[in-house]
Amino acid sequence: MKYTIGIDVGTSGTKTVLFDVNGTKIASALMEYPMMQPKNGWAEQSPADWWQAAAGTIRQVITDSAVNPADIAGVGLTGQMHGLVMLDADNNVLRPAIIWCDQRTAAECADIEATVGHDDLIEITCNPALTGFTASKILWVRKNQPEIYAKCRHILLPKDYIRFMLTGEYATDVSDASGMQLLDIGGRCWSDTVLERLDIDPALLGKVYESPNVTGVITEEAAALTGLCAGTPVVGGAGDNAAAAVGVGVVKEGTAFTTIGTSGVVFAHTDNITLDRAGRIHTFCCAVPGAWHVMGVTQAAGLSLRWLRDTVCTDEIAKAEAQGVDPYVIMDKEAEASGIGANRLLYLPYLMGERTPHLDPNARGAFIGLSAMHNRGDLTRAVLEGVCFSLKDCLSVFGEMDLRPQTMCACGGGAKSPLWRNLLAQVFDTPIHTTVNDEGPAFGAAILAMVGAGLYDSVPAACDALIRQKSLLTPDAGDAAAYAKYYNIYRGLYSHLKNDYAALAEL
Ligand code: XUL
Repeated sequence: MKYTIGIDVGTSGTKTVLFDVNGTKIASALMEYPMMQPKNGWAEQSPADWWQAAAGTIRQVITDSAVNPADIAGVGLTGQMHGLVMLDADNNVLRPAIIWCDQRTAAECADIEATVGHDDLIEITCNPALTGFTASKILWVRKNQPEIYAKCRHILLPKDYIRFMLTGEYATDVSDASGMQLLDIGGRCWSDTVLERLDIDPALLGKVYESPNVTGVITEEAAALTGLCAGTPVVGGAGDNAAAAVGVGVVKEGTAFTTIGTSGVVFAHTDNITLDRAGRIHTFCCAVPGAWHVMGVTQAAGLSLRWLRDTVCTDEIAKAEAQGVDPYVIMDKEAEASGIGANRLLYLPYLMGERTPHLDPNARGAFIGLSAMHNRGDLTRAVLEGVCFSLKDCLSVFGEMDLRPQTMCACGGGAKSPLWRNLLAQVFDTPIHTTVNDEGPAFGAAILAMVGAGLYDSVPAACDALIRQKSLLTPDAGDAAAYAKYYNIYRGLYSHLKNDYAALAEL
């Protein structure tokens, strides 16, 4: 029997999963690490934490599964997109990684728009300059920490730093590279024009591969640290959302998924490039060679619930500990008791600024309609619903672009909550299915490794063989109509607050 490993370098932790060639999960391990927020709107992580977690979880799945490492045919990488890792000439990490949800680069985005030109930027990178993307982070370091920039010899994305530690190769894949804002999305290669206009040396960037292609092999040193065999191939892999798409079989026109992880995403596969000229959603290369995808992003989806848990729900955490369950289970129960509309309480999930549809780094979270009668169950319910409303905003932009997916899958940590999944079906007013294997990005990365190792002929062929749908949730007409009333109020709120957010950011 042959096996592959998928490694997901997430924001809350790294998850490594070992699958057999039939897609059965054999072993899984997770190691968490912190996100540092040195200032309001900033977000950083330590690449050393990622590597420690990746190496530790690989070791653990190999030990727990008792699989012979020689039978592991390949490794696939995925993870949080957009983060900036800078290495010096000796491959030392020069500063903490500035990650995807960091919002410090509004000025650099204005610089990018001015230097590259808005129309060319949209034409080439398919996106307007965005604070979340890597290019503006590179410019920020160059402007604010020139001594660090002068020493920088390699720029890598989070999962690609793990690739470097495993294989010694500086490389990335087309889907993750799309989020750097330096890629020619149509041509699937670095854009000479953008790099030249931004004065970024192309030698700083890794080689770009299609997602299932082999990018290198495990070194002797990495083998000793992880338990993998030296020489095991590592494929390109994909950004977390492109990998999740493979993991749930969204690899053909007309298919889509919504994921609730730290961020939330609505994602649709497209065989041709489709873009929103207003830039409210992203158009990226996908993990299927020669195809693309569009996606809308809610910056703080699971992050909103985690924030509520950690700052407000200390009683729930204690109760969960006593009962030996996850605190989210207790929070869900309380939220269920609250009911549709959380007793007339709305939540805006803009804790880390917002992308779709507002593109505003200054936006911040809000509860609207708080009353002395509200309890923690109402707050939790409002957060769950608010995230769904924000994802519905993403879906509405798809509609404006005439993209109407025929199927919608739910995945990510949030979709494991029956309540949150059900809210999504009611708020979207769309049938939503899940998949038997719910490992999302890690499964997608492992499937890409199966294709790279020659165990399947293509990504769609592997998905046809490995992915099975389950539990179709259908919306209830009455509930969906009730949520539509709340959504109508929700979608107007940002415009009332926009100027106040800007003023607050100036203080
Ligand atoms: C996508 C995005 C997030 C991160 C973290 O553009 O920023 O989905 O990849 O999950």
